[in-house]
Amino acid sequence: MVGKQIKTFDLSRFQQMACYNKLTKSAYDENIRVVPAYEMLHKCLVDEMTAYAKKATTRYEFKGIDPKTGRYCEGSRGAASTLGTVELGVGTGHSSDLLLDAIPQMKLTGIEVLDNMVEASKERLIEKHGEKRVSILQGDYFAMLERSALRREWKTLCGSSIVFSVISVHHVADEMKRWLIRDAYNILQNGGIFVLADLMLPSDPKKQKEVMEAAEANLIKNATTPEIRDEWLRHWRELNILGTVENHLKWFVEAGFSNVRHVFSELTTNMIVGVKEPCLGEY
Ligand SMILES: C[S@@+](CC[C@H](N)C(=O)[O-])C[C@H]1O[C@@H](n2cnc3c(N)ncnc32)[C@H](O)[C@@H]1O
Repeated sequence: MVGKQIKTFDLSRFQQMACYNKLTKSAYDENIRVVPAYEMLHKCLVDEMTAYAKKATTRYEFKGIDPKTGRYCEGSRGAASTLGTVELGVGTGHSSDLLLDAIPQMKLTGIEVLDNMVEASKERLIEKHGEKRVSILQGDYFAMLERSALRREWKTLCGSSIVFSVISVHHVADEMKRWLIRDAYNILQNGGIFVLADLMLPSDPKKQKEVMEAAEANLIKNATTPEIRDEWLRHWRELNILGTVENHLKWFVEAGFSNVRHVFSELTTNMIVGVKEPCLGEY
């Protein structure tokens, strides 16, 4: 069997993406709105995560048969006082900033590969929320999430309550996406959630064509200059590799997630949430 090939995340191809690494922070923040329903997606992200955070930080009583051990157990758990959270591809920090504002118990580790984005996310998130709540790791998240007891980053990320990613994973082949979903499952603690918001396609080729055309029309309407519009179009046509919603849902279930829900869909913008089922009394 072929193992996970980290080298298949092609950094040099990625660094050609002028939309990410050549725009100033403010031009990037303005032009990322070429992603269909970017604001609505973030509203849904904040709603999902705050609902989860409320549950995870509220004291709860448990009583019954533990499905993992088969033994009866009862008791209560103290509310989690911090929620270790990982963002895969933190960019300029827009998504994490909204979540840090909404969820006081959140402690964030943002992972980012590009120099300018690392700098921008530090500037936005550490300056506003402080070093106690935010740390930024520079590197490739495919490598960092791969199970390895020898890797310092992997050990740091293990036991997280929340892993999430917004418009970041769609530049790699389906097999890499599948690996990533499995690796996200592995670093979560029981009861944790993975939220994947990304560009995806419907399965029907006719609908694929329709949503791609509508998404491009949205891009053309919202890009702030003709140069930026052309660069994003090139990025979408040559560098993006969109998987289907159906396959993503399948990979979540395959990885072991329960209660897998497709909570947002607007043209190519989609969001899926899965829970790493807790044992009774485990969180
Ligand atoms: C489009 S941005 C989105 C950032 C943020 N969630 C937002 O909505 O503003 C995605 C980021 O993921 C980063 N990224 C993509 N693949 C990565 C990888 N394998 N490792 C680390 N960062 C990655 C990109 O450099 C980019 O900054």
